[in-house]
Amino acid sequence: MTELVETKGLTKAFGEVRAVDDLTVSIPEGAIGLVGPNGAGKTTFLRLLLGLLRPSQGTGRVLGYGIEDGIPVRERTGYMPEHDCLLTDMTGIGLVSYMGRVSGLDPGTAMSRAHDVLQFVGVDEERYRKIAEFSTGMRQKVKLAQAMVHDPQLYIFDEPTTGLDPRGRSEMLGLVGKIAGSGGRNVILSSHLLPDVESICKYVVILDGGHQIAAGPLAKLLTGAQDRLRIDVRGDRGAFLAALQEAGVDSEAGPTGIHVARKEGVESDVFRAAKASGTEVRYMGVEIRSLEELFLELVERNAGGR
Ligand SMILES: Nc1ncnc2c1ncn2[C@@H]1O[C@H](COP(=O)(O)OP(=O)(O)OP(=O)(O)O)[C@@H](O)[C@H]1O
Ligand SMILES: [Mg+2]
Repeated sequence: MTELVETKGLTKAFGEVRAVDDLTVSIPEGAIGLVGPNGAGKTTFLRLLLGLLRPSQGTGRVLGYGIEDGIPVRERTGYMPEHDCLLTDMTGIGLVSYMGRVSGLDPGTAMSRAHDVLQFVGVDEERYRKIAEFSTGMRQKVKLAQAMVHDPQLYIFDEPTTGLDPRGRSEMLGLVGKIAGSGGRNVILSSHLLPDVESICKYVVILDGGHQIAAGPLAKLLTGAQDRLRIDVRGDRGAFLAALQEAGVDSEAGPTGIHVARKEGVESDVFRAAKASGTEVRYMGVEIRSLEELFLELVERNAGGR
Protein backbone atom coordinates (compact mmCIF):
# COMPACT_ATOMS: atom_id res chain seq x y z
CA MET A 1 0.00 0.00 0.00
CA THR A 2 1.29 3.45 -0.80
CA GLU A 3 1.64 5.79 2.08
CA LEU A 4 -0.49 8.93 2.13
CA VAL A 5 2.56 11.16 2.50
CA GLU A 6 6.23 10.33 2.30
CA THR A 7 9.04 12.84 2.46
CA LYS A 8 12.80 12.54 2.43
CA GLY A 9 15.00 15.32 3.78
CA LEU A 10 12.31 17.84 2.96
CA THR A 11 13.54 21.35 3.75
CA LYS A 12 12.19 24.83 3.23
CA ALA A 13 14.29 27.79 4.25
CA PHE A 14 13.09 31.37 4.27
CA GLY A 15 16.39 33.20 4.55
CA GLU A 16 17.85 32.11 7.87
CA VAL A 17 14.69 30.39 9.06
CA ARG A 18 14.40 26.70 8.27
CA ALA A 19 10.63 26.44 8.54
CA VAL A 20 10.77 22.75 7.55
CA ASP A 21 14.13 21.22 8.35
CA ASP A 22 15.33 17.95 6.86
CA LEU A 23 11.99 16.30 7.44
CA THR A 24 11.65 12.61 6.66
CA VAL A 25 8.19 11.25 7.34
CA SER A 26 6.01 8.35 6.37
CA ILE A 27 2.32 8.94 7.06
CA PRO A 28 -0.31 6.24 6.49
CA GLU A 29 -3.72 6.76 4.95
CA GLY A 30 -6.60 7.76 7.22
CA ALA A 31 -7.42 10.66 9.52
CA ILE A 32 -4.14 12.34 10.38
CA GLY A 33 -3.60 15.06 12.97
CA LEU A 34 -0.77 17.53 12.45
CA VAL A 35 0.09 19.42 15.62
CA GLY A 36 2.86 21.67 16.84
CA PRO A 37 3.40 25.02 18.51
CA ASN A 38 3.24 28.32 16.59
CA GLY A 39 5.94 28.47 13.97
CA ALA A 40 6.53 24.69 14.04
CA GLY A 41 6.31 24.59 10.25
CA LYS A 42 2.85 23.05 9.84
CA THR A 43 1.55 25.46 7.22
CA THR A 44 4.85 25.42 5.34
CA PHE A 45 4.82 21.62 5.35
CA LEU A 46 1.27 21.51 3.97
CA ARG A 47 2.05 24.07 1.27
CA LEU A 48 5.09 22.02 0.24
CA LEU A 49 2.91 18.93 -0.06
CA LEU A 50 0.52 20.81 -2.31
CA GLY A 51 3.30 22.12 -4.53
CA LEU A 52 2.44 25.71 -3.57
CA LEU A 53 5.98 26.17 -2.25
CA ARG A 54 9.14 24.76 -3.75
CA PRO A 55 11.37 22.78 -1.40
CA SER A 56 14.86 24.16 -0.80
CA GLN A 57 15.96 20.53 -0.56
CA GLY A 58 14.49 17.07 -0.40
CA THR A 59 11.60 15.28 -2.02
CA GLY A 60 8.13 14.07 -1.21
CA ARG A 61 5.17 12.12 -2.49
CA VAL A 62 1.48 12.52 -1.71
CA LEU A 63 -0.92 9.72 -2.69
CA GLY A 64 2.00 8.34 -4.67
CA TYR A 65 2.51 11.51 -6.74
CA GLY A 66 5.67 13.62 -6.57
CA ILE A 67 5.28 17.08 -5.05
CA GLU A 68 7.63 18.76 -7.53
CA ASP A 69 4.84 19.05 -10.08
CA GLY A 70 1.98 20.05 -7.79
CA ILE A 71 -0.83 19.47 -10.28
CA PRO A 72 -1.46 15.71 -9.84
CA VAL A 73 -1.54 16.21 -6.06
CA ARG A 74 -3.78 19.28 -6.19
CA GLU A 75 -6.23 17.54 -8.53
CA ARG A 76 -6.77 14.89 -5.85
CA THR A 77 -6.69 17.18 -2.84
CA GLY A 78 -9.13 19.61 -1.28
CA TYR A 79 -7.29 22.37 0.56
CA MET A 80 -8.78 24.61 3.17
CA PRO A 81 -6.06 27.19 3.86
CA GLU A 82 -5.36 28.89 7.15
CA HIS A 83 -6.01 32.41 5.96
CA ASP A 84 -8.91 33.86 4.05
CA CYS A 85 -8.67 32.99 0.41
CA LEU A 86 -12.12 33.83 -0.82
CA LEU A 87 -12.94 36.16 -3.66
CA THR A 88 -15.36 38.23 -1.64
CA ASP A 89 -16.98 39.88 -4.62
CA MET A 90 -18.44 36.57 -5.77
CA THR A 91 -21.54 34.87 -4.43
CA GLY A 92 -21.15 31.66 -2.47
CA ILE A 93 -22.51 29.54 -5.30
CA GLY A 94 -20.49 31.53 -7.86
CA LEU A 95 -17.22 30.92 -6.04
CA VAL A 96 -17.74 27.24 -5.34
CA SER A 97 -18.86 26.43 -8.90
CA TYR A 98 -15.96 28.49 -10.24
CA MET A 99 -13.54 26.44 -8.11
CA GLY A 100 -15.16 23.32 -9.52
CA ARG A 101 -14.43 24.47 -13.08
CA VAL A 102 -10.87 25.37 -12.08
CA SER A 103 -10.43 21.77 -10.92
CA GLY A 104 -11.54 20.52 -14.31
CA LEU A 105 -15.29 19.87 -13.95
CA ASP A 106 -17.55 20.85 -16.85
CA PRO A 107 -19.80 23.85 -16.09
CA GLY A 108 -22.95 21.80 -15.52
CA THR A 109 -21.28 19.32 -13.19
CA ALA A 110 -19.46 22.14 -11.38
CA MET A 111 -22.77 23.91 -10.71
CA SER A 112 -24.62 20.84 -9.47
CA ARG A 113 -21.66 19.76 -7.29
CA ALA A 114 -21.48 23.29 -5.90
CA HIS A 115 -25.11 23.10 -4.80
CA ASP A 116 -24.53 19.68 -3.25
CA VAL A 117 -21.51 20.69 -1.21
CA LEU A 118 -23.06 23.98 -0.05
CA GLN A 119 -26.04 21.94 1.08
CA PHE A 120 -23.70 19.56 2.94
CA VAL A 121 -21.93 22.38 4.81
CA GLY A 122 -25.21 24.11 5.62
CA VAL A 123 -25.13 27.25 3.47
CA ASP A 124 -28.70 27.59 2.28
CA GLU A 125 -30.29 30.67 0.71
CA GLU A 126 -27.20 32.68 1.63
CA ARG A 127 -25.36 31.00 -1.22
CA TYR A 128 -26.81 33.62 -3.57
CA ARG A 129 -25.33 36.51 -1.58
CA LYS A 130 -21.86 38.00 -1.91
CA ILE A 131 -19.21 36.46 0.32
CA ALA A 132 -18.28 39.97 1.50
CA GLU A 133 -21.56 39.96 3.46
CA PHE A 134 -20.93 36.59 5.14
CA SER A 135 -20.18 36.00 8.81
CA THR A 136 -16.89 34.30 9.73
CA GLY A 137 -18.70 31.01 10.33
CA MET A 138 -20.38 31.17 6.93
CA ARG A 139 -17.09 32.01 5.22
CA GLN A 140 -15.40 29.00 6.79
CA LYS A 141 -18.21 26.84 5.48
CA VAL A 142 -17.76 28.21 1.98
CA LYS A 143 -14.03 27.58 2.32
CA LEU A 144 -14.82 23.98 3.19
CA ALA A 145 -17.31 23.69 0.32
CA GLN A 146 -14.78 24.90 -2.25
CA ALA A 147 -12.35 22.25 -1.00
CA MET A 148 -14.99 19.55 -1.52
CA VAL A 149 -16.35 20.47 -4.92
CA HIS A 150 -14.16 18.12 -6.98
CA ASP A 151 -14.67 15.20 -4.58
CA PRO A 152 -11.00 14.82 -3.64
CA GLN A 153 -9.31 11.77 -2.18
CA LEU A 154 -7.43 13.84 0.37
CA TYR A 155 -8.51 16.83 2.45
CA ILE A 156 -6.00 19.20 3.97
CA PHE A 157 -7.46 21.40 6.69
CA ASP A 158 -5.18 24.07 8.12
CA GLU A 159 -6.70 25.34 11.38
CA PRO A 160 -10.30 25.04 10.14
CA THR A 161 -11.86 26.26 13.39
CA THR A 162 -9.81 29.45 13.75
CA GLY A 163 -11.94 32.44 14.63
CA LEU A 164 -15.13 30.46 15.13
CA ASP A 165 -17.39 30.73 18.17
CA PRO A 166 -18.12 27.50 20.09
CA ARG A 167 -21.15 26.68 18.00
CA GLY A 168 -19.36 27.35 14.72
CA ARG A 169 -16.42 25.31 15.94
CA SER A 170 -18.55 22.35 16.82
CA GLU A 171 -20.38 22.54 13.47
CA MET A 172 -17.10 22.70 11.55
CA LEU A 173 -15.69 19.82 13.56
CA GLY A 174 -18.80 17.80 12.86
CA LEU A 175 -18.32 18.34 9.13
CA VAL A 176 -14.62 17.47 9.24
CA GLY A 177 -15.44 14.35 11.26
CA LYS A 178 -18.11 13.34 8.75
CA ILE A 179 -15.64 13.65 5.89
CA ALA A 180 -12.99 11.72 7.81
CA GLY A 181 -15.54 9.01 8.58
CA SER A 182 -16.74 8.57 5.01
CA GLY A 183 -14.97 5.73 3.24
CA GLY A 184 -11.94 6.27 1.06
CA ARG A 185 -11.31 9.87 2.13
CA ASN A 186 -8.10 10.88 3.83
CA VAL A 187 -7.85 13.91 6.06
CA ILE A 188 -4.88 15.86 7.34
CA LEU A 189 -6.07 18.16 10.09
CA SER A 190 -3.66 20.77 11.36
CA SER A 191 -4.84 22.39 14.56
CA HIS A 192 -3.79 24.03 17.80
CA LEU A 193 -6.86 22.67 19.46
CA LEU A 194 -5.68 19.28 20.58
CA PRO A 195 -9.08 18.01 21.73
CA ASP A 196 -10.30 18.65 18.16
CA VAL A 197 -7.50 16.54 16.76
CA GLU A 198 -8.08 13.90 19.40
CA SER A 199 -11.75 13.60 18.52
CA ILE A 200 -11.14 13.08 14.80
CA CYS A 201 -7.67 11.68 14.18
CA LYS A 202 -6.35 8.18 14.72
CA TYR A 203 -2.76 9.02 13.82
CA VAL A 204 -0.81 12.06 14.91
CA VAL A 205 2.32 13.79 13.69
CA ILE A 206 3.91 16.29 16.06
CA LEU A 207 6.20 18.94 14.58
CA ASP A 208 8.45 21.40 16.37
CA GLY A 209 11.08 23.67 14.87
CA GLY A 210 10.56 22.10 11.44
CA HIS A 211 11.27 18.61 12.79
CA GLN A 212 9.04 15.66 13.52
CA ILE A 213 9.33 15.02 17.24
CA ALA A 214 6.80 12.20 17.40
CA ALA A 215 4.45 10.32 15.11
CA GLY A 216 2.25 7.29 15.40
CA PRO A 217 -1.20 5.99 16.15
CA LEU A 218 -2.58 8.21 18.90
CA ALA A 219 -3.58 5.29 21.10
CA LYS A 220 -0.06 3.91 20.90
CA LEU A 221 1.60 7.26 21.61
CA LEU A 222 -0.51 7.60 24.72
CA THR A 223 0.03 4.09 26.05
CA GLY A 224 3.73 4.17 25.15
CA ALA A 225 4.21 6.64 27.96
CA GLN A 226 2.36 4.62 30.55
CA ASP A 227 5.44 3.17 32.13
CA ARG A 228 5.47 6.21 34.39
CA LEU A 229 3.17 7.78 36.94
CA ARG A 230 2.43 11.46 36.98
CA ILE A 231 2.14 13.06 40.37
CA ASP A 232 0.89 16.45 41.32
CA VAL A 233 1.44 17.74 44.86
CA ARG A 234 0.16 20.62 46.94
CA GLY A 235 3.11 22.42 48.50
CA ASP A 236 6.80 22.61 47.65
CA ARG A 237 7.36 20.54 44.53
CA GLY A 238 11.13 20.93 44.72
CA ALA A 239 11.22 19.55 48.25
CA PHE A 240 8.97 16.67 47.23
CA LEU A 241 11.22 15.78 44.30
CA ALA A 242 14.30 15.95 46.53
CA ALA A 243 12.62 13.60 49.03
CA LEU A 244 11.75 11.16 46.23
CA GLN A 245 15.28 11.16 44.95
CA GLU A 246 16.66 10.72 48.44
CA ALA A 247 14.47 7.64 48.76
CA GLY A 248 16.03 6.31 45.56
CA VAL A 249 12.88 6.70 43.44
CA ASP A 250 13.57 7.17 39.71
CA SER A 251 11.86 10.56 39.27
CA GLU A 252 12.02 13.85 37.42
CA ALA A 253 10.09 17.09 37.12
CA GLY A 254 8.21 17.76 33.90
CA PRO A 255 5.80 20.42 32.69
CA THR A 256 2.77 18.38 33.71
CA GLY A 257 4.03 17.34 37.15
CA ILE A 258 6.53 15.00 38.75
CA HIS A 259 7.07 11.76 36.87
CA VAL A 260 8.18 8.52 38.47
CA ALA A 261 8.97 5.14 36.97
CA ARG A 262 6.28 2.61 37.73
CA LYS A 263 7.30 -0.35 39.83
CA GLU A 264 6.10 -2.48 42.69
CA GLY A 265 5.56 -0.44 45.84
CA VAL A 266 6.35 2.94 44.30
CA GLU A 267 3.02 4.38 45.55
CA SER A 268 4.04 3.99 49.19
CA ASP A 269 7.42 5.58 48.43
CA VAL A 270 5.54 8.53 46.96
CA PHE A 271 3.34 8.98 50.02
CA ARG A 272 6.35 8.66 52.31
CA ALA A 273 8.24 11.32 50.31
CA ALA A 274 5.21 13.61 50.45
CA LYS A 275 5.04 13.25 54.21
CA ALA A 276 8.79 13.83 54.61
CA SER A 277 8.62 16.99 52.49
CA GLY A 278 5.45 18.37 54.05
CA THR A 279 3.52 18.15 50.78
CA GLU A 280 0.26 16.48 49.88
CA VAL A 281 -0.40 14.26 46.87
CA ARG A 282 -3.24 15.72 44.80
CA TYR A 283 -3.04 13.43 41.82
CA MET A 284 -1.25 10.21 41.05
CA GLY A 285 -2.02 8.27 37.91
CA VAL A 286 -0.89 6.87 34.63
CA GLU A 287 1.18 9.62 33.20
CA ILE A 288 -0.27 10.72 29.92
CA ARG A 289 -4.00 10.85 29.57
CA SER A 290 -4.50 13.16 26.63
CA LEU A 291 -2.88 14.48 23.51
CA GLU A 292 -2.61 17.80 25.30
CA GLU A 293 -0.38 16.34 28.01
CA LEU A 294 1.67 14.33 25.57
CA PHE A 295 2.20 17.43 23.48
CA LEU A 296 3.34 19.52 26.46
CA GLU A 297 5.79 16.85 27.52
CA LEU A 298 7.30 16.31 24.09
CA VAL A 299 7.59 19.97 23.16
CA GLU A 300 9.16 20.78 26.51
CA ARG A 301 11.66 17.92 26.22
CA ASN A 302 12.49 18.94 22.68
CA ALA A 303 13.15 22.52 23.82
CA GLY A 304 15.35 21.17 26.61
CA GLY A 305 17.44 19.24 24.11
CA ARG A 306 18.08 22.25 21.91
N1 LIG B 1 6.75 33.28 3.51
C1 LIG B 1 7.56 33.27 4.59
N2 LIG B 1 8.63 34.09 4.67
C2 LIG B 1 9.44 34.07 5.73
N3 LIG B 1 9.29 33.27 6.80
C3 LIG B 1 8.25 32.43 6.80
C4 LIG B 1 7.32 32.39 5.70
N4 LIG B 1 6.38 31.45 5.97
C5 LIG B 1 6.69 30.94 7.18
N5 LIG B 1 7.82 31.52 7.67
C6 LIG B 1 8.47 31.18 8.96
O1 LIG B 1 8.64 29.80 9.01
C7 LIG B 1 8.35 29.28 10.30
C8 LIG B 1 7.24 28.25 10.22
O2 LIG B 1 6.03 28.91 9.88
P1 LIG B 1 4.67 28.15 9.61
O3 LIG B 1 3.66 29.18 9.25
O4 LIG B 1 4.88 27.04 8.67
O5 LIG B 1 4.36 27.55 11.04
P2 LIG B 1 3.00 26.97 11.65
O6 LIG B 1 3.35 25.74 12.37
O7 LIG B 1 1.96 26.87 10.57
O8 LIG B 1 2.60 28.09 12.69
P3 LIG B 1 1.14 28.58 13.19
O9 LIG B 1 0.73 27.59 14.22
O10 LIG B 1 1.41 29.90 13.78
O11 LIG B 1 0.23 28.63 12.01
C9 LIG B 1 8.02 30.48 11.16
O12 LIG B 1 9.20 30.85 11.83
C10 LIG B 1 7.60 31.52 10.15
O13 LIG B 1 7.88 32.81 10.64
MG1 LIG C 1 0.10 27.66 10.32
